[in-house]
Amino acid sequence: MKKSLVAGNWKMYKTPQESVTFVQELKRSVKNYEDRDILVCPPFTSLVPVSELLKDTPIKLGAQNVYFEEEGAFTGEVSAKMLKEVGVSCVICGHSERRNIFMETNEIINKKVKKTISTGMTAILCVGEKLEEREDEKTFDIIETQVQRCLDGIDNTEGLVIAYEPVWAIGTGKNATPEQAEEVHLFIKELVSKLFGSSSAESILILYGGSVKPENIDLLMAQKDIDGVLVGGASLKLDSFLRIIDYR
Ligand code: 13P
Repeated sequence: MKKSLVAGNWKMYKTPQESVTFVQELKRSVKNYEDRDILVCPPFTSLVPVSELLKDTPIKLGAQNVYFEEEGAFTGEVSAKMLKEVGVSCVICGHSERRNIFMETNEIINKKVKKTISTGMTAILCVGEKLEEREDEKTFDIIETQVQRCLDGIDNTEGLVIAYEPVWAIGTGKNATPEQAEEVHLFIKELVSKLFGSSSAESILILYGGSVKPENIDLLMAQKDIDGVLVGGASLKLDSFLRIIDYR
């Protein structure tokens, strides 16, 4: 049976010291699970100290971004090799904040996904429609374009996770209903089946993200095609993150 994934995306929150304090408490309080993986994605400056703390624990370490070149004169960027060396195993690629604030295109994200996977890490590819796109009934078109373009030239789903994060649900407190999320997850799964074959569609993890909270986690995780969650705000507080991890 495939394991689910509960991932915390801390965005631009927590200094290195705050990250260390949080992870020390998380380590102390989290239960042992056989059926789910746990991932934390702190800011770059916290990766090294958090990585030290997570050694010999089942909690995995992720990064929120990466640059696709091997190395060079790219001021302000961080390479996949640098992340791998400090213990990062997953990289969030194409988060909607990267797309909308930092103007990342599907083509740039495609390069980041490829670099992440070829460096031996897992790429968590984020896709999702904006509110006006949903209202114009373009959700499926947008998702299909994002998935196809961001996975262009990739021939299997090894090292790939897809996160469906409707932009209108991120940080708004307004989550997609479990039924709305399930509908898009099923669509993504069918798309993966078309692109990579049915066994890939069965084995790939498709996460939901957007205002995941203790109050809605159980219903979201009860959906057939929701294989985990990517949590923003509610992953920053120990109580709420622990309750989300402990979904029933
Ligand atoms: P919130 O959980 O704060 O809505 O953020 C979701 C998200 O963007 C996770 O990557």
